[in-house]
Amino acid sequence: MEKKAETLTAAKRAAGYRAAEMVEEGMVVGLGTGSTVYFTIERLSERVRDGLRIAAIPTSFQTALRAKEAHIPLTTLDDNPVIDIAIDGADEVDPKLRLIKGRGAAHLREKCVAAAAKHFVVVVDEQKMVKKLGVAAVPVEVLPFAITPVLGQLSGLGCVPIVREAVKKDGPVITDNGNFVVDCRFREIKNPEKLEAVLASIPGIIESGLFCGFTKKTTVIIGGLKKVKIISSADIVA
Ligand code: 5RP
Repeated sequence: MEKKAETLTAAKRAAGYRAAEMVEEGMVVGLGTGSTVYFTIERLSERVRDGLRIAAIPTSFQTALRAKEAHIPLTTLDDNPVIDIAIDGADEVDPKLRLIKGRGAAHLREKCVAAAAKHFVVVVDEQKMVKKLGVAAVPVEVLPFAITPVLGQLSGLGCVPIVREAVKKDGPVITDNGNFVVDCRFREIKNPEKLEAVLASIPGIIESGLFCGFTKKTTVIIGGLKKVKIISSADIVA
C-alpha cells in the first residue's frame, strides 16, 4: 500500500476507534456508512465480543451487512425511535460543523438516523475539514418518476446536476431506497442552510446531503496519524 493511503487509513482508524469508545452499555447506536465508520464497526465488534451490550441501527445495506458479520445486534427506528448516539462519516465539515454527506448515496437514511439521535458523532480525517462547503458536490436523492423536472429545477439553482452512474452496473446508481442520486456541483454555496431548505422544497427531491440542522448536538472526531482532535458546538466561533 502507498504511504499516503496507509496514512489516510490510519487517520480513519483513529477517528473510527475513538468514536467507538464513546458508546456505553445499553445504548442504541446509529451506525453510519463508509470507510471511516468501518473502523467504528470493527472496534464495536471487539467491544461486543468482550461483553458490551448495544443495539445498532444501520444506515445502509452495506453497514447492515458489516454489522451482522461483526456480530453487532441490530434494531430498527420502529423499535427504537430515539437513538442515544449516532456515528457517521462526512465528505466535508465546515467550521460551524455543517456537513456535506452522501458520497456513498446513504444520506437519506443517515439523516433520518442523525435526526433521531441525542448525540451525533462525525468521524473524519483531516482532509474533510474545509473553510467553506462546496468543493464536494451536494448529492441529492431523487424519485426516478420526477427526475426530468427535478434536473431542470436544479439547473435553475445554478449548479451542474449529474445523475450518478453506477460502477459495476450499467446506468444510474439506485439507492437502498430505490431512487436516483444527482450530484450537484455549485460554484459557491453562500448559505448552506438556505440551500438545504430550497432543495427540500422541490417536489421529487427526497433528501439532500447537506446536514446543517444538527450542529448543536454534533461532535467531530478528526483522525490524524499522531493524535485525534475532537471539536463540538462549544468550539464554534460565531
Ligand atoms: C455515505 C456517507 C459517508 O459517511 C461519507 O461519504 C464519508 O465516507 P468515508 O468515511 O468513506 O469517507 O455520507 O453516504
